[in-house]
Amino acid sequence: MITIKDKQFEIFISHQQIADKVAALATRLNADYQDKNPVLIVILNGAFIFAADLVRQLTFNHEIQFAKFSSYQGMETTGEVKELIGLSIDIKDRDVIIVEDIVDTGITMSEVLPTLQAKGAKTVEIAVLLMKPGKLRVPLNVKYCAMEIPNEFIVGYGLDYDGLGRNHKDIYVVKSEE
Ligand code: IMP
Ligand code: MG
Repeated sequence: MITIKDKQFEIFISHQQIADKVAALATRLNADYQDKNPVLIVILNGAFIFAADLVRQLTFNHEIQFAKFSSYQGMETTGEVKELIGLSIDIKDRDVIIVEDIVDTGITMSEVLPTLQAKGAKTVEIAVLLMKPGKLRVPLNVKYCAMEIPNEFIVGYGLDYDGLGRNHKDIYVVKSEE
C-alpha cells in the first residue's frame, strides 16, 4: 500500500502484467505499421513511461514528438481554448499515432484528434495504455488500447495524483474511504 497526500492506494496492476499488455500492443502496432513511417505524438506528462516502454519494442521506422495539450483562457472567447504545445514536426500527409496514458471521459482525445486532422495528417490513431469504458462521454474510436479498467482512480507508471506518484512501477488504485 502507498499513501499520497490524503489518499491511500493499493496495488492494482503489477509491472509484469503491464509489460505483457504493452508487449501485446507493440505486436499489433508492428503488424499494422511495418511498411509505414508514422509520427508518434506522446502526450505529456502522463504517457512518458508508457511511451518509453512501447517504442523500445517497435520494429518499424517512426519519429517521436512530445507534446502537451494545454489550456489557456482565450482573450475574447468565453470558453476554454486548448492547443497542442510543442508540435514541431510537419504532420501533413503523415500517419500519426497519438500515445496517451489513459482515456477517461474521452474529452481530451476528442479535442486532440481534430487539431491533428486539421494539420493535414493522413491517418490519426490513438494508442492508449488504459481506458475506462464506463466513463466514456463522447464517441471515440480508440484502435489501440492495452488495458481496460473499471471507473476507479489510479496512479503509477506515469499517472499521477495531484502531480505525485508517477514514479511507481506498478499501477495502484485508490482505496475507497471507509
Ligand atoms: P479525459 O479527457 O476525461 O479522457 O481525461 C484524460 C486525462 O485525465 C488523462 O490524460 C489523465 O491525465 C487524466 N486521468 C483520467 N483518469 C485518471 C486516473 O485514474 N488517474 C490519473 N489520471 C487520470
Ligand atoms: Mg494525461
